[in-house]
Amino acid sequence: MGAAAQLTLLARVGAILGSGLPRQETLERVADLLVPAFAGWCAIDLEGEHGELERRVALPKAFPPLPPDAPHGPAIVMRTGEPELVREVTEDALFAAARGNWAALAVMRELGLKSAMCVPLSTGNRAIGTLSLLATERHYGNAELELMTEIGRRTAAAIESDRTRARTQMLFEASPTPMWVYDADTLAFLAVNDAAVEHYGYAREQFLAMSIKDIRPPEDVPKLLADVASQGGPGSRNSATWRHRRADGSLIDVEITSGRIDFEGRRAALVVAHDVSERKRLERRLADAEKMEAIGRLAGGVAHDFNNLLTVISGYAEILRARDKGEEIEEIARAARQAAGLTRQLLAFSRRQVLHPTVLDLNEIVAGMESMLHRIIGDDVSVATHLAADLAPVKADRAQIERVIVNLAANARDAMPDGGALTIETANIELEHYGEDDLNGPHVLLAVSDTGVGMDEEVRAHLFEPFFTTKQGGEGTGLGLATVFGVVKQSGGGIYVYSERGSGTSFKIYLPAAERPAARPAEVVVESDPVGGTETVLVVEDDTNVRDLVRLLLEHNGYKVLTVQDAYEAERACVELGVDLLLTDVVMPDVSGPSLAERISTAAPAVRILFMSGYSDAAVQRQGVLSERAAFIEKPFTERALTTKVREVLDGA
Ligand SMILES: Nc1ncnc2c1ncn2[C@@H]1O[C@H](COP(=O)(O)OP(=O)(O)OP(=O)(O)O)[C@@H](O)[C@H]1O
Ligand SMILES: [Mg+2]
Repeated sequence: MGAAAQLTLLARVGAILGSGLPRQETLERVADLLVPAFAGWCAIDLEGEHGELERRVALPKAFPPLPPDAPHGPAIVMRTGEPELVREVTEDALFAAARGNWAALAVMRELGLKSAMCVPLSTGNRAIGTLSLLATERHYGNAELELMTEIGRRTAAAIESDRTRARTQMLFEASPTPMWVYDADTLAFLAVNDAAVEHYGYAREQFLAMSIKDIRPPEDVPKLLADVASQGGPGSRNSATWRHRRADGSLIDVEITSGRIDFEGRRAALVVAHDVSERKRLERRLADAEKMEAIGRLAGGVAHDFNNLLTVISGYAEILRARDKGEEIEEIARAARQAAGLTRQLLAFSRRQVLHPTVLDLNEIVAGMESMLHRIIGDDVSVATHLAADLAPVKADRAQIERVIVNLAANARDAMPDGGALTIETANIELEHYGEDDLNGPHVLLAVSDTGVGMDEEVRAHLFEPFFTTKQGGEGTGLGLATVFGVVKQSGGGIYVYSERGSGTSFKIYLPAAERPAARPAEVVVESDPVGGTETVLVVEDDTNVRDLVRLLLEHNGYKVLTVQDAYEAERACVELGVDLLLTDVVMPDVSGPSLAERISTAAPAVRILFMSGYSDAAVQRQGVLSERAAFIEKPFTERALTTKVREVLDGA
């Protein structure tokens, strides 16, 4: 065979191998090229899964087969990896091939075999099969052996790359992570894997009819295009987080890693999309909680110190006012009262106010407030209530819950300057690890909704922070929702807002359902004039200024007042000096009010106890809850409030 013919043959084999036909067909075409021009018979054997040789092609089929395990045949070539050449087929060789089978030997003799060869289909480091040829018209030599060895090598390479492609295809398809390929020029999807179809909810055909722009929320598309352009085309290796839209419209946060590839001759990018929504949600939740916690600590700390100062300021203002009815002093007292209001709200936000929870029926509270709400809201806004029958009770501080409702209603009014509708709704609801607060179990929902201006994401993000307000010119303090937030959280509940700019707002508060039936509503306490007495009151308070003031106020009203330095002295005074009432701060450096009270009720059971506090550090640990029966007065207090309370406790049963 001439050199030109050899080259032509090689070129034609190359064309077949590169044609992308299925593997079996490729092998058959190769055999077609060789028979009859180059051989009387051609066989291709490939190694099967278990290492045995499988005959894939034999041409012509009728030709007596040279079995794979014939001497000088495929089995030996597989073992050695070296080509075998039988230049001259002798009688002996035929006999060996027929293995003593006389009939087979007769057939072979008749065919007139002249020459034989077998070459490995070698991938370089190993043989994956063999190519065998028998000739009746010629004798094979070294040149033919070399040519066939080369054809064997090329065929093996094609089969190998075919296998690799199939494996890669399988990896792509079977990957548990969504993956796709998209066209670098049109951005159209070219291929998507099962995980993508399943995770995104688009059918495969839907995917393939879309471009990567279609799975982005519209507002993110310009950024996507800019990103693609700035990185010199799609498929940059930097991973980044994007928002993707699923078929059901929900958005997910996705970390995208991509690479440039050549896909069926097109410039394309391969994308691996990792859904990180859950991680993002947790991160956001943590950041939010930390932010609120930090603001709360700051606000609570400031409010605590201010409270003591205000108690002193307003107390002395009151004493001065009693002496001379000056208008200036009235102003001081008024400012102090306002300031006290502010610090109370800050304490509420920081969840450090002392709560007096009782078992409450929210329906009854809402119903009782309706006429007041009408007054707050004005005539342009309608008020509707939807109260669930059989509403479970909740355990909360009645006054605080009322404050929550008033604050929400006031905000709703401000959001509806041109009128609208306010709706208050209650419902029983079973929650399962709900929302940021991970609420679980039976809850009572209190929803306050309006048809007002609504709010955008920026406002929603800062809504509950103290001093966040969008109201101009000092019209809002921004403490309304901060207070609401603190009260709800301290009561073990959660608050969520649903709102879009222009389409109203709905606040939903979930409070844990309480077990006991609702108690009678608390009686309304009317402040009377200061009332005096002659009993002995022991005042335990670590702030000297507050202590002095309380002593002054009580002595002014006829009481005998003792003050002591520490708990030990307090106990002794109660036992030995005939104390009638212990008036104690809740939080003190050496001993807490409640534990002092406990000691004294054991040592001197006749002594009545009244707590005073504006704040409790213990509140953080015990959620600021005194026992329900404990008498308590909140700082700062007026003379009237103090003396009324003292009288009440002394006279109480
Ligand atoms: N129902 C609502 N509709 C629209 N925006 C609201 C609504 N409720 C609250 N907001 C927004 O949240 C901000 C904070 O409310 P928050 O009650 O804490 O303070 P404020 O109402 O501004 O002041 P204050 O309560 O002291 O009068 C408001 O300024 C407003 O922008
Ligand atoms: Mg408000």
